[in-house]
Amino acid sequence: MPVVFSHLNYIYSIKTPMEFSALKDINLQIEDNSFTMIVGHTGSGKSTLVQQINALLIPTSGIVDVNGIVVDCNVKKLKNIKELRKGVGLVFQFPEYQLFEETVLKDVSFGPKNFGVDNKKATELAKEALNLVGIDESLFDKSPFELSGGQKRRVAIAGVITLKPKVLILDEPTAGLDPQGSREMMKLFTKIKEQGTTIIMITHDMDNVIRYGTDVVVLAKGELIKKCRPYELFLDQDSFNSLSIDEPLVIKMAKRLNQNGYHISLENVIDIDSLVQEIKKEKRYE
Ligand SMILES: Nc1ncnc2c1ncn2[C@@H]1O[C@H](COP(=O)(O)OP(=O)(O)OP(=O)(O)O)[C@@H](O)[C@H]1O
Ligand SMILES: [Mg+2]
Repeated sequence: MPVVFSHLNYIYSIKTPMEFSALKDINLQIEDNSFTMIVGHTGSGKSTLVQQINALLIPTSGIVDVNGIVVDCNVKKLKNIKELRKGVGLVFQFPEYQLFEETVLKDVSFGPKNFGVDNKKATELAKEALNLVGIDESLFDKSPFELSGGQKRRVAIAGVITLKPKVLILDEPTAGLDPQGSREMMKLFTKIKEQGTTIIMITHDMDNVIRYGTDVVVLAKGELIKKCRPYELFLDQDSFNSLSIDEPLVIKMAKRLNQNGYHISLENVIDIDSLVQEIKKEKRYE
C-alpha cells in the first residue's frame, strides 16, 4: 500500500495570530512494504507529517493518497475514513499513556470492537496480537497499569496491530527504553514487517536507521530535504552535518578504514557483524 504525498501543506491554527506553517509542499512516496525512517531536528514536522496518513490531521492543501483513498481538505466528503483508519495503525510516542481499560485483554480488544468485530472474534484477535508482541498469557487479566514500562508499550502496540493494518506508523517507539528493550522492540517491528506491513518510523536513533531502514526521509523546518537509502545519508559529510544528524559508529569506522586503504562499500555496513564481514572480504584479496 504505497503512501503518496502530493504538494501537501499543513498550517496549524490557520487564520489566527498563532498561524504556523508546519509542512511545506511535501512531495513524497513511501513504498509498499518498506521500513521507512523519518528523521529531522525537533520541530521539523515529523509527527505532523505522519498524522496526515490516517487523517488525524487534515492537509491544509494538497493530498495524501493511501492506496487509492485520497485525503485532502475536503475530508468531510471522505466516506471511507473508517476503512482508511483500519488500514493505517498509528502508535504515538509514549503510547502507554493511551491505555485505559481494566485488563490487558480488554484494552487490546477495544480496537476491533470499535470497528464492529463481535466480542469473541475481538478477543481472538487481541490474543493473537498480544502473542505477537510477546506478552505472556499470565498478564492478560492484569490491569495494564500494573505492568512495566516496556510491557505497557507492547500492550499499546498490540492494540494498534489487532486489525492487521497495512501501514504501521510508529512515533519514536524506542524513546525512553533501555538498549535491550529498544533492540527487542526493533525486532518486533521487523517481524511485523515480514508479515507484509509497511513500517513508517520516526526516530532520532541513527543506528536503528541504518540497521533496519530500507529508506530514510529527512525533514527540516517543515520541508522535505531528502529521501534516500539510509547509507546515502552519510556519503556527503557536509550535508548530514548541516542537518545535525549523528553518524552511526559503524559508518564512522568503515570510513576510517577506507581512509587507511580499505575499499568498504558503505551500502553493506548496517551493524558490527556486517562491518566485520566487509573487512574479512578485503583480507581475502590481500
Ligand atoms: N498543535 C499545534 N499548534 C501549533 N503549532 C504546533 C502544534 N503542534 C506542533 N506545532 C509546531 O509545528 C512544528 C512541527 O511539530 P512536530 O510535532 O510535527 O515536530 P516533530 O518533528 O515531530 O518534533 P519532535 O522531534 O520534537 O517530536 C513545530 O514547530 C511545533 O511547534
Ligand atoms: Mg514528534
